[in-house]
Amino acid sequence: MVERAPWGNGIGLSNKNILFGITGGIAAFKAAFYLRSLKNFGAKVVPVLTENAAKFVTPMTFSALANEKAWLDAFDSDPSSLFAHIEIPKDADCFVVCPATANCLAKAANGIADDLLTTMILAYKGSVLFFPSMNPAMYQNPATQNNIEKLRKLGHVVVEPATGQVACGDQGQGRLVEFEEFLHEVQSSLLPKPLLGKKILVTAGPTREPIDPVRFLSNKSSGKMGFEIAWACKMLGAEVTLIKGPTQLSPPNVHTLLSVETADEMFEAVKEVFPQMDVVIMTAAVADYTPERVSKTKIKKKDYGEENLNISLKKTQDILKYISRNRSSKQVIVGFCAETENLIENARKKLANKPVDMLVCNDITEKGAGFDKNTNKVSILYGDGSKIEELPLMSKANLALELMNRVSSLL
Ligand SMILES: Cc1cc2nc3c(=O)[nH]c(=O)nc-3n(C[C@H](O)[C@H](O)[C@H](O)COP(=O)(O)O)c2cc1C
Repeated sequence: MVERAPWGNGIGLSNKNILFGITGGIAAFKAAFYLRSLKNFGAKVVPVLTENAAKFVTPMTFSALANEKAWLDAFDSDPSSLFAHIEIPKDADCFVVCPATANCLAKAANGIADDLLTTMILAYKGSVLFFPSMNPAMYQNPATQNNIEKLRKLGHVVVEPATGQVACGDQGQGRLVEFEEFLHEVQSSLLPKPLLGKKILVTAGPTREPIDPVRFLSNKSSGKMGFEIAWACKMLGAEVTLIKGPTQLSPPNVHTLLSVETADEMFEAVKEVFPQMDVVIMTAAVADYTPERVSKTKIKKKDYGEENLNISLKKTQDILKYISRNRSSKQVIVGFCAETENLIENARKKLANKPVDMLVCNDITEKGAGFDKNTNKVSILYGDGSKIEELPLMSKANLALELMNRVSSLL
């Protein structure tokens, strides 16, 4: 089964105050999961429901999941709540409305404040993140489209809903975005954008070198590190092209995704796109050798009798070397190297042979580092190798952000 990964691992959410509006759409039940996930990532989440949202999912559900009071009534008789519509938005680092009904979009676009949630939207000084969800006919209606345009002109973010089947069975655009997209938008709104306008190529995962129609040579790379980097680049504002080898994990949603199998296909894909990039991050574990000859039919044991089967391997193209020799001086190139011994010594040799701006090296025998783990511990060699920075053990999501912040300072 393909594992769905919430790339970014909640980076930037810890201790943030998130005001979470829920309106009366069928997707209100999904909001319960989305809200809980933000809380699990360390955010304080305050739910505010419209009267109609409470007909779909009870305030108690949201209150229990957030471990906070769920707000509903603008005219709460409790004196301490009288100015909640002004005070609560003041504290919010981020204000999301998920799902956002057509009705709520219409009211917010026109400054109507006839319940607690829409009053809070009007009182909020920042940009509100709306996640519309509705029947495709309602979404396409020019009235709704005009309201969305108005909201964007007012500086709010209205996330395009997904396309597919909606609750009533109709097909089209109107589904609430998947959690991964939702999380990206929320995290993104909380992070600075040092990579805005930059084009970044990330390679990730292993390659597969075929022996015959059923067998191949590959390696243990899961693609996790590269996917986290692609995600971090996207969150920091870059336009990301991701070239991935075969992975079990589903990749993050990026501007351009190219899937390849072999080292040769990876090389051709990289060669094609890398000249247009500002930054190239090579995390893919590309095979160094590939079978010289690929059998068209399955290799049978009987063909070899008692003999051992010898497979002759030929060298593949060294992609990092190719890039380091054909780069422009304006491009920032980052290579990765995984070692099992003499980490820095081997990394220095690699850097001398393949001059890149940053070489991120890790000893895969160290606890918590290397393939298929959620954490990593790396050292970074810069430029000529004279400067080395050792980073502590951290999540790959955190590391991705750390690396990309360093890359942005080289641009
Ligand atoms: C079963 C049912 C499902 C609905 N689903 C949606 C929906 O997904 N999106 C939407 O915009 N409106 C939907 N509506 C209509 C809204 O509930 C209605 O416009 C309501 O006034 C919204 O109130 P609110 O924006 O104050 O929460 C639905 C109505 C019903 C009865």
